[in-house]
This record gives sequence, C-alpha cells and structure tokens, in this order.
Amino acid sequence: MGRSSKDKRDIYYRLAKEEGWRARSAFKLLQLDEEFSLFKGVSHAVDLCAAPGSWSQVLSRKLRGKGSSEEVKIVAVDLQAMAPLPGVTQIQGDITKISTAQEIIRHFEGQSADLVVCDGAPDVTGLHDVDEYIQAQLLLAALNITTHVLKPGGNFVAKIFRGKDVTLLYSQLKIFFTSVTCAKPRSSRNSSIEAFVVCQNYSPPEEYVPNMSNPLLDHSYDVDFNQLEGPNRIIVPFLACGDLSAFDSDRTYPLQLDSSKEYQYLPPTQPPIQPPYQQACHLRKNKLLANEDSPSVFLDGALSAMSLGNSEVTDRTTQGTS
Ligand SMILES: C[S@@+](CC[C@H](N)C(=O)[O-])C[C@H]1O[C@@H](n2cnc3c(N)ncnc32)[C@H](O)[C@@H]1O
Repeated sequence: MGRSSKDKRDIYYRLAKEEGWRARSAFKLLQLDEEFSLFKGVSHAVDLCAAPGSWSQVLSRKLRGKGSSEEVKIVAVDLQAMAPLPGVTQIQGDITKISTAQEIIRHFEGQSADLVVCDGAPDVTGLHDVDEYIQAQLLLAALNITTHVLKPGGNFVAKIFRGKDVTLLYSQLKIFFTSVTCAKPRSSRNSSIEAFVVCQNYSPPEEYVPNMSNPLLDHSYDVDFNQLEGPNRIIVPFLACGDLSAFDSDRTYPLQLDSSKEYQYLPPTQPPIQPPYQQACHLRKNKLLANEDSPSVFLDGALSAMSLGNSEVTDRTTQGTS
C-alpha cells in the first residue's frame, strides 16, 4: 500500500495535512462551530484531552485571530506531551485526577472559562461495554472540571459514545445546562459510535457547590435508565452538522480533487511527541517483537512495552472508577 492510499481513503486526513492541522479532528470542532457558533464572544477556553493538539490549534487560530490576543487564555490538558502552540498553556496530566483539575483551576486565577471542550477518548479495548464505560468516566471527569471553571451561560462540548447508557449521561448534563444537543459532524465517520454533546448555557442547580469527588454517575445499576418514560427520560435532540456540501468522511475520493491543482503527498503536520506506542514501534522496527530465535529478547521487549501500556490503563481505570 502506497503512502497516498490513506489520503485517498480519508479525505479529512488529507485536508488536515493540506491546511496544517495536526489531526483530522480539527474539522469536527470547526463543523460544530459552524452549527453552534461556539467561539462567539469566547476569550477563555479549556481544551481537555488535547493531544496532538488540533482542537487547540483551532482555538488558537479562532480566538487569537479575532482581537487582542492578550485577553485570550487557552489551557490544554492531556496525558501525552504535546508540541507547543502559540498562546496555549499546556498541562500534562490525567483529567480524572483531582491534582490536574486543581492545576487547571489555578491557571484561571479566579477568572472563568467561556468554553470547555473535551475530545477525550480511551485507548479502545474493543470490548464495547468497557470502552463506553471509560469514555463516560472521561466525560464526567470533564464535566466535573467544567463545573469549577465555566462561567454561568458558558458552553461545554464533549465527545460521547452513543452506547446503551447514554440516556443517563444526557440526564446528568441536563442538570447543568439548559440545552443539550447530540451532534454528529460530517467529518466524524458514520461507522463510529462517536458523537459530541453540545451543552449550552451553563446554569448549575441553585446552591450547587462544585466538588471534585462528587460521583456524578450513579454507580447503582439496578435502574434501567433506558426504560424510563415521559419527562423522566430526557430526550436530547440529535443533529447531523456540517454543511451538506462538506466532504463525506465515509467516502473515498480521488487523489486529484481539483483538476487545476496537482495532487502532492504531504507528511503529517506534527507527528505526536513521545507517544505511548513509541517503544512498541522501536521493538517492531528492530525485529525484536517476533524474534523467535531469541525468546528472551522478545519476552523482555514485549513485557516492557506491555508494562508501559498497562500502567496507563490501570491508572486511568482506577481513577475513572473512584
Ligand atoms: C482523540 S484524541 C484527542 C485529539 C485532539 N482533540 C486533537 O484534536 O488533536 C484523545 C486524547 O485523549 C487523551 N486522554 C485519554 N484519557 C485521558 C485522561 N484521563 N486525561 C487526559 N487525557 C486523556 C489521549 O491521551 C488522547 O490524546
């Protein structure tokens, strides 16, 4: 398979490189903004689960481009290290940890954010229930942080997996926002259960005191929330967004899109720095992963690669369920 085959199969991957975005996800935020005018009046924003940084790039370009960049504050957080971006303060940390939340709050020095976005996704295991559960925990951790930093009337946008317990999440979001919409940008593949909740007009219940240890998700599974009826079941509107003329993320496009412009292969804008799979790539490149002649090298290499991945998974899982 040639270098250009991904360019052919994934139009947004190709466009991201052409327009200088670090990831194709940039288009999801841009298309959500087209529909909901998310950046209107925003000068302070938090980008949770931000690496490699395409949403932070969008925030930086959109907010700093508008007026005095002095007033603009963007705080980006991720478990992974991220290459620097103009006007973006970075925190490397786990959003399910209280210490990370406190660090974000500190950066706002008593001021509030106008917008909090979270594109957090766990390393998917393929076990749908587990993936959905961890994803929900990330969303709730993001919501908890949001209750500390978002100004009344502010907006919160987060990735959500439309699994079977999604109604419970919607109900919890509806406690804090007057409007909750589930949106699917055109750049998000139909085959993916991913969508985004766009929560507008932050208005917490009267006398609600933000509290990081607040267990927002009810851990009793006796009630089947999807069986609820009438007003007890909160129906969240679903909206496909992105202009109909936008590219379809599930289609394959020819490499030569525009007859007047010759196709040219472009490398990714900013490859991830220190990704967690770095060691596994190193082992594979040096043929250490499948070297049956020297099982000890294989075993040592594989074990150290696994321990790298496992510590992260354990950390996130235990944090997520606490
Ligand atoms: C889909 S990527 C985000 C892409 C990003 N919005 C962009 O446009 O470049 C999901 C990110 O979630 C991060 N993540 C997952 N769990 C996290 C956690 N507990 N705390 C902080 N970041 C987390 C991952 O490290 C990963 O970088």
